[in-house]
Amino acid sequence: MTGACNSLLLAGREARRQRLAVTVKELIGPYTLLRLERGELEPGLPGQFFMLEAPGRVLPRPMSLCQAPPGELAFLIDSIGPGTRALCALVPGEAIHVFGPLGNGFDLDVERPLLVAGGIGIAPMPYLTAALGDPPTILGFRTERHAEAGRLLPGAEIVVEPRLVTELLPDDPGDVLACGPEPMLGAIRRLAPRAQLAWEAPMACGYGACYGCVVEIGGRYRRLCVDGPVLRDAA
Ligand code: FES
Repeated sequence: MTGACNSLLLAGREARRQRLAVTVKELIGPYTLLRLERGELEPGLPGQFFMLEAPGRVLPRPMSLCQAPPGELAFLIDSIGPGTRALCALVPGEAIHVFGPLGNGFDLDVERPLLVAGGIGIAPMPYLTAALGDPPTILGFRTERHAEAGRLLPGAEIVVEPRLVTELLPDDPGDVLACGPEPMLGAIRRLAPRAQLAWEAPMACGYGACYGCVVEIGGRYRRLCVDGPVLRDAA
């Protein structure tokens, strides 16, 4: 089911586009973990993303890599709109085009990593925790059902609203690496100004050409697909 592979050199790094088949689909609370053949694509760094082309949709959806099992790429998807619903409706054996890895991931050269994620911001954390050797992790979710995704990170501390992840941040949090909704990232930025924060924006191209992902963060306009999605100077 794996198709021909095209590649593009972006800032010295090679991103590839290839048609890949779904191998396994697993429901985790309200989320879907979609595992695909890896084909000739590299998994890249934790925090980098891939463009997944949903069947019947014009625009692909950016998804950070959740896990990199041997020979596969796995993405955790929240079914919140037509594109993500189409991705979650895929069944094993069906194939889609995938393009990546893209963007800037987390800097793994950290001394005292602390991972923090909220909601679907948990998506890049399993791959990140594997790269960093299971550092301390704090996860926050809206409901107990969403918190079922915590099983992707078995050692994590978990809070459910109205409690917030920031309530568990120690006074000296060390090297924070975070992903989640904008208000959560803003609160973390105030408490840990040097934190590495993975931001989200709608994306059309994924490699700097369309300016569809420009957001204002910390008073500066960024193309999140090439300047991010992980930023550490957003104060
Ligand atoms: Fe096109 Fe960022 S998604 S410029």
